[in-house]
Amino acid sequence: MSRYANNPQAIRNLIRPTEVHRDVYIDQEVFELEMKHLFANTWVFVGHESQTPNKGDYFTTEIGTKPVIMVRHSDNEVYVLHNRCPHKGTKIAIDRTGNTGKFFRCPYHAWSFKTNGCLLAIPLRKGYKDTGLEESESVNGMAPVGAVKNYRGFIFARLNKEGPDFESFFGEALSSFDNMVDRSPEGRLEVAGPPLRYMHRCNWKMLVENQTDTCHPMVAHESSAGTAIDLWEKMDKPEGTQKPMAMEVIAPFMSPMSSSRTWASAPGRTATATPGCITRSTPTIRPSPAISSRWSRPMARSAQRPSSARTGTTRSISPTS
Ligand code: FES
Ligand SMILES: [Fe+2]
Repeated sequence: MSRYANNPQAIRNLIRPTEVHRDVYIDQEVFELEMKHLFANTWVFVGHESQTPNKGDYFTTEIGTKPVIMVRHSDNEVYVLHNRCPHKGTKIAIDRTGNTGKFFRCPYHAWSFKTNGCLLAIPLRKGYKDTGLEESESVNGMAPVGAVKNYRGFIFARLNKEGPDFESFFGEALSSFDNMVDRSPEGRLEVAGPPLRYMHRCNWKMLVENQTDTCHPMVAHESSAGTAIDLWEKMDKPEGTQKPMAMEVIAPFMSPMSSSRTWASAPGRTATATPGCITRSTPTIRPSPAISSRWSRPMARSAQRPSSARTGTTRSISPTS
């Protein structure tokens, strides 16, 4: 029985000021509603233009559960197409990345498509006579996504044609991209080497949930980070030896819990305090509720492992050298 479809109030009830119901993370129906409404109507990062520098270069990924191809066409523009043959739905590009030359060729019946998605050729086209092919959507070729935006090299797409425009969707958040890109003397970035790709078998929200949970590293990562710091400190080294970059990165993992702070704009989000940051105690670090609870509190139950399996990716971007 459907509990959440067509019942916005039931969905609203999943969120309380200090608690989140577990269905947000594990309910299949909630997940499908997110795919249908959230992922289809919003702007999702697809890739960076430097991942397809030459004509015919492509990069495949997913928006929600929909496979898409980011490809550079002969007009030098980057297009985002559904990675799906308009004939019988076969996936067109199987590899993560590559160069397809001037066209894509479906591996099932060899229909071919220009790199902007337009139908190029159909073998034995006469054989489709009187089947309605010429009047069908299939002759339009591989469908483009609803909208594409290249923001300073970062390619975003919206699956649906209608929806919030790019600028109003991101608002002030775009300044984070500006901040990152403007650090490059050339004012542009590129993906250097194969991106680091994390595969998480969990609900898509758990990655961000975990990354903003900065009270766990000193506990969950103590055995690795703590050991590394211990070894470094006890190591017999010449006076003034510079701390390796890896140690600089890993050291904050062992910052004491008392130095955690929360974001004023996002209660429940925590971070390790740096000098000058305000430290304040909040309800976010109170003890975990009983295991049988269906409600998750920030920093307490959020580490539960949900049953649904989804993936997430992050990519490292380095300034052009
Ligand atoms: S499914 Fe692609 S050509 Fe038939
Ligand atoms: Fe962690």
